[in-house]
Amino acid sequence: MDLSTRYGTIFILFFNQRDCKQSKEPSMKHYKSVQAVILAAGSSRRLNTGTSKMLEKICGQELILYPTSLFEALSIPTTVVVGHESKAVTECIEKRHKNGISFVHQKEQLGTGHALACTKDLWNAQTIIVINGDMPLMEKEIIAELYDYHIDSKASMTVMSACCQYPSATDYGRIVLNDDSTIEIVEAKNATQVDDDEDGHINAGVYVIETDFLRDSIGKLTKDPIGKEFYITDLVKIANAHKKMVSVFNAPFDNVRGVNTLEELWITEHLQRSMLIRYWMDNGVRFASPSTTHLDNKVTIGKGTVIGTGVHLTGTTTIGSNCTIQPYSLINDSTIEDGSTILSHSIIDDSHVKKDASVGPFAHLRAQTIIHENAVVGNFVEVKNSSLGSNSKAKHLSYLGDTIVGEHGTIGAGTITCNYDGTAKHKTVIEDNVFIGSNNTLVAPLTIATNSYTAAGSTITENVPENSLAFGRARQVTKKEYRRTQKTDDKSSFVAAKKSSHNQEFDLS
Ligand code: UD1
Ligand code: CA
Repeated sequence: MDLSTRYGTIFILFFNQRDCKQSKEPSMKHYKSVQAVILAAGSSRRLNTGTSKMLEKICGQELILYPTSLFEALSIPTTVVVGHESKAVTECIEKRHKNGISFVHQKEQLGTGHALACTKDLWNAQTIIVINGDMPLMEKEIIAELYDYHIDSKASMTVMSACCQYPSATDYGRIVLNDDSTIEIVEAKNATQVDDDEDGHINAGVYVIETDFLRDSIGKLTKDPIGKEFYITDLVKIANAHKKMVSVFNAPFDNVRGVNTLEELWITEHLQRSMLIRYWMDNGVRFASPSTTHLDNKVTIGKGTVIGTGVHLTGTTTIGSNCTIQPYSLINDSTIEDGSTILSHSIIDDSHVKKDASVGPFAHLRAQTIIHENAVVGNFVEVKNSSLGSNSKAKHLSYLGDTIVGEHGTIGAGTITCNYDGTAKHKTVIEDNVFIGSNNTLVAPLTIATNSYTAAGSTITENVPENSLAFGRARQVTKKEYRRTQKTDDKSSFVAAKKSSHNQEFDLS
């Protein structure tokens, strides 16, 4: 059936084949007289996790913040209907939006029509845009076009639609053309084979409604006998019955995908992430294996950077130009400056790696750590709330906690800062040009001043002044000709010899 040829007085079908890439700046003609309602109270039963899907994240952002940000970008005052996990959903929105959003609590989840009815006291604009809270890929340009189309068509209600090849495999309501040229939305639960044989137009879950029509109609909604809910989609039937015009606006299916199940959450996130990766590719970032890369919305990446297989860049991470992020590294809420290399399997959280530094493999930076220019953090090194000065190196098997290391320092393999005494944390300060020998235990609070050395294997408990060499280890005892005193068949003489060597060690100290 070619719906696009079927225009009637009751409805107008507008199947615009819009191209997402040609998005123009939203131009909403009467935006001063429009308000938005986001339906977000549902029980998220099909998600089957026990929590509200509104709080599930897609590319680092909660689902509910997609539509709220959309209307913020269009400067449209917005009401959110909350219900299931209302406190957490409200808090999430309030954290992101300081104003411009009001909330209505839907105590019982009696359906989308009922959710909209709950907002009645707040209807004050000429036109209301209603959107399901679970469709994160909608774009502001599409909303602006929809609204302009609605105003131009002079309809009482405009329904956003999309083409879906196999509607019978989905929970979307189908847009069905009646014999009298009106349309109807048939919910998935109520759909028959005949409805599914229509040409695959589904109801997207976005509506533009004239407030006068809505005021007259909302009370006429009745509970659907099959779904046992008040369906917002039945407003179309009411419009038909009162000879009010309903128009249909077509949008790309990917932009209207709803999230009801974990599978749909995964598909939606995959699409969002693919869009981000394409964007950064266009900006000169090489992804070795895009399908294995995780990228959040707020991440930025500079030109010439190479992102390896399985890398996760999350939160507010910023990666500079010409960096290499090797496979399976996880970087969250951190900054990596130009020219730096993060070798494979490193974890960097809430930290800052300055220019031309090298971190990893298997390194762990966290809690506001700063790695300065040209510094090197090597394998199996953990750095917490510390800074490593420019050109300094901590290359193997170390823990630096609450430590400041100056410039041109060397932290020997196996160095551990003992920053915690069981009650409080203490600082270690290692000034410029210090050489910490291998396998040192640095007991904080401690300062090791400029140009000093500590001997390998030391436990350093006292401050070390400049230009010094500090030993903090037992002197070696060597028992010469020890082997000859043993009789392989006489165990007691062997034990006696060991005891005597032990005592001697104590005598020496
Ligand atoms: C709805 C539409 C369907 C459309 C699909 C698009 C109805 C009856 N059906 O179905 O035609 O194809 O969206 O994705 O509207 N909600 C409330 N209170 C409630 C019930 C739901 O606020 O009592 C909210 C939900 O949190 C959700 C939105 O309304 O954000 C849509 O509800 P959902 O149950 O997901 O509707 P669908 O079955 O997807
Ligand atoms: Ca849905």
